[in-house]
Order: sequence, then C-alpha cells, then structure tokens
Amino acid sequence: MRHRTMRHSLTVGLFIAFSMGTASAQDTIKVGFVIPMTGQLAAVGKQVSAGARLYMQEHGDTVAGKKIELIIKDDSGVPDVAKRVAQELLVNDKVRFLGGGLTPSAFAMAPLATESKVPEVVVISGTSAVTERSPYIVRVSFTLGQSSGILGDWAVKNGSKKTVIIQSDWAPGAEATAVFTDRFTKGGGQILDTIKVPLANPDFAPFLQRARDLAPDTLFVFVPAGQAGTFAKQFVERGLDKTGIKLIGPGDITDDDDLPHMGDQMIGTVTALNYSASHNSPKNKAYVAAFKAANGGMRPNFISLGGYDGMHVIYEALAKTGGSADADKLIAAMTSLKWESPRGPMSIDPETRDVVQNIYIRKVEKVGGELYNTEFATFEAVKDPIKEAKKAAH
Ligand code: PHB
Repeated sequence: MRHRTMRHSLTVGLFIAFSMGTASAQDTIKVGFVIPMTGQLAAVGKQVSAGARLYMQEHGDTVAGKKIELIIKDDSGVPDVAKRVAQELLVNDKVRFLGGGLTPSAFAMAPLATESKVPEVVVISGTSAVTERSPYIVRVSFTLGQSSGILGDWAVKNGSKKTVIIQSDWAPGAEATAVFTDRFTKGGGQILDTIKVPLANPDFAPFLQRARDLAPDTLFVFVPAGQAGTFAKQFVERGLDKTGIKLIGPGDITDDDDLPHMGDQMIGTVTALNYSASHNSPKNKAYVAAFKAANGGMRPNFISLGGYDGMHVIYEALAKTGGSADADKLIAAMTSLKWESPRGPMSIDPETRDVVQNIYIRKVEKVGGELYNTEFATFEAVKDPIKEAKKAAH
C-alpha cells in the first residue's frame, strides 16, 4: 500500500514537472528584433523598439493562448553582425519571428528566414528589393520610392524646374533618387546633378557648397532618420536657408525625432512621408501621448510605427492561425491584413508582401511653439512604385 502511494506520487510529480517544462516552451512564442541599438543609427533602433514595446504594453503579452516574448538584439547596423545574431536567435532562442532592421541587415537575414522557415517582419528597411529576397519576408515599414515618387510629381506641379539631389550613398538613397528623378523629369523638370554622400560619418558641408554653386531652384535631399539633425545644422551653417533654394525630400530629413531640435530655418520645408506625429486622428493622438509617456517625452517618428505595426501583424497573424507558428500559414494571414494604424489606414499587398499605405505631403510649421510636419495633401493606398514598374514591364 505504502509502496503504491509512493509510486503514484512520484508519477504525479514527474508528470507535473514534465508538463511545466514543456508547457512554458510550447506556450511561448519568441520574437527576435535585430536592430541598431548602438552605432550611427542608434536613434532608429531606439524608436522602433519603443514602438514595439508600446504595442505590447497596450495589447498585453498573450495571443491565442501563447505568451509573446520580445527579444531585442543589437546589430549596431552591421550586416555580418545581424546575420550572426539572427542565427543565434533562431538556434538558441528558437524565435518564431524575426524583426528585420536596416536595409543591409534585412538583406543579410533573408536567407535565414528562408532556410529556417521563420517569417522576417521588416520593421525598418525602405529598400524595395528586400521583400523579394525571401518568400517569408513581410514589410510593415515603408519604401523610399513611395514618398519620393509622390514628391517628384508634386514638385514639378508646384514650380520646381531645376533640382540638385543630395543622397546618402546606399540602397535606400539610390531608390529615392531613381524614383524622384523618374517622376520629376517625366513631368518636365531637370536634374542638374546627383551628389552622393557617404553613409558613415557624413560631413554634408562640401556637398552643400557644390549644390549651391549649381544654382538650382530646388534641393532634393535624402538622409536617413538619425542623420537629419546633423544635416539640418550644416544646411543652416552653410547659409543654404537664405538662398531661396527650396528644400524638399522624403520626410526622413525632417523626422519627428530630430525636428524638435532643429532651428526655425527649417520652417516651410516640404516633404512626403507615411507618418507625421501631428497626423490628425484620435488613434494617433492617443499613440503620441502614450509613446511620450512611456519614453521620457520623446516624440514618436515614422520609424517607431515599424515596431508598433510590426507587433500588430505578428499578433493578428497568430490570432488568425490560432497560435500556430507555421510560416506559410502566418504569411498567408499577414498578407490578408488591413488595419488602421496611428499613421492611417494600411494593408499588406498579398502579391508582393509589401506595405500599402497613405503618403502625405507635409510642410514644417511652428505649432504651439514646436516644429511639426503639417500634412496638407493625402495620397491613398500607395504601393511601392519600383515593384509596380516591374509588374507593368512584364
Ligand atoms: C533603411 O534601412 O532602409 C532606412 C533606414 C532609415 C531611413 C530610411 C531607410 O530613414
């Protein structure tokens, strides 16, 4: 009798230990973001991680009976590091989603998403081809073509005739230039020169001087968010604000993180982008207030929405699959999503797995003593123009 009881309690004990061990592994879904938390574009990593964390703070950490655990890994913007760190996340942490960061890193991680059949949700990169590198990539951020094409059309319709381009010399910069040039010249405008500035430790002064010497009526500039403050400072130091040359560009150059620290000389700058912190919707007002409260008063920029909406597609996809982490099911679920983000209505194109969203034309204004990008025109449901052009050519 005594013997039986002992054996029984041993079995029960083992059962409890066993089920506890497996339950926590099976019921947790890990998400691994590989983003720049240090290095030159650390400001980008800070925004995107804050956006993701805010989403979890608002929506809890359980979906379809699974506990969601977000792991943030720093790649310092170096693609070889991104690849190694992503591999560790897959092998050691057994993440079921990767968050892809800057363009070079998102590219470096793409083969891992394919080999391991783990979806890579791109939360930062704005380079068109990224989504073509793996059938398991979905983008929630933006493409440079989306904003630059809209702005090319707008500029030529609003009096710009001769433009000089200053472009940060990497893939998203090349795409901003290519799409802007295409649309601006089709509308009858002329590009006087395209000046490329190194991505690492840029000194814009000599390039600004060269641009000024060419006497354009318009200067189109792309630098990544995180370099906007440096650019604006040198633009003013070189006296470019007093030349009458119109400064325009993708909204990365007046991003909401750096804009509050820029001078009033930036007032009037016209840009195109998917998000402004002053976007007038109840959803965005709540987002900005909650983001500031959670981040010591920091204003959210467009990059933060990659983190916020990245978590949204992960949560919604898991809800649709009933908690299954099967990559094919998750990709099918993600590409059928349509939702309202703080940036406005958005969806994922089921054909390309790329983001479809409104692009707004905005101008820098002083509102309540602070600089903001005030939206004054909306282009609805804009797709990546580079992919659209490829489709049309077929
Ligand atoms: C990118 O990684 O493609 C990227 C990052 C920051 C930007 C724009 C593009 O502001």
